[in-house]
This record gives sequence, structure tokens and C-alpha cells, in this order.
Amino acid sequence: MNEDILQQAIAAPQNVGEMTDADAVGTVGSPDCGDMVRLWIKYKERDGQKVIDKASFQSFGCQTAIAVASMATQMILGKTREEALHMKADELSAPLGPLPPMKIHCGQMVEGALKAALEAEQGNRGSEPQSFGTLENQTSTAPTLHDALSAADKKAGKIKIIPIGS
Ligand code: FES
Repeated sequence: MNEDILQQAIAAPQNVGEMTDADAVGTVGSPDCGDMVRLWIKYKERDGQKVIDKASFQSFGCQTAIAVASMATQMILGKTREEALHMKADELSAPLGPLPPMKIHCGQMVEGALKAALEAEQGNRGSEPQSFGTLENQTSTAPTLHDALSAADKKAGKIKIIPIGS
């Protein structure tokens, strides 16, 4: 993994924050570490096709997850839903180089959040947070990731919240 690129991405993560006018949102949590990522997508019409116009994310996860989410929300811009659905974790994290085994799930969590948002757009707008692996679903009524994490923390007593920049 390229530590320089990781540090650059962490120093200035792109597309961080909730998107209030999003068309879809996907949320996943990792059972490996308790981290979570929520990803928002907004589409636009281009040449008769619906393509991704904007993407943003929130993560209280590790630096690798934040870096991959930052990169992913830039990479998917201009892609159709189908094109974005085909993007795997190793493609989304490609600028970082191969991830070490203990960090592979970080990229997979971002891929999961992206897929959850892309699939949610087809029907339910993603109101139901998704689980990644075996982590129990978080409260479906939580309006923000922080609320979801807080609820999960109370419930499971094992989720550590690390704000970006700390
Ligand atoms: Fe769990 Fe990175 S998302 S350590």
C-alpha cells in the first residue's frame, strides 16, 4: 500500500458529508472492526443516459476506508449505475496499491456502501441501512451515520467513533 497517497487522501478527503438532495444512500458496517460508511449518490441525465453527477460519504472508520471512499466518490462520477456496479474494491482502492490483508475489508466496505446506494436507487431510495458481513443491521430510522453509530454503540457496546481529522 502506498503510504504517501494514503496520507494525501487523509489530509484532504474529497466529498465528505451528507448530501441532502441525494437520489440514493447506502450504509454498511464491518463486523471485522465496527467501522461504518454511508455513501450518497445523485444522478443527472447526459445524452439520454442517467449518470452519477455527485457522490459523497461519511465514515467514522479507519484511514484506509476514508481514503478509499474519497477516491471512490471521485471515480464514479460520470458513470452509469451499471458501470459503477461493476467496480470492485480493488479498483476503487487502486491508487493506494494493493492493500495489506488486514485492510482488504476496508475497501470492501466502501464497495458495499456503493453497491447498497446503487441498488437502493432502484426501489427504496436506500432508507434501510445495509449490513456488511454479519454485523447486525443498525437502526433504520437513524438520520445520520453518527446517530446510527451511537445507536449501534449503545446496542453492541463495541463501536468506536473516530471523527475525521483526529
Ligand atoms: Fe475496518 Fe478499515 S474499515 S479497519
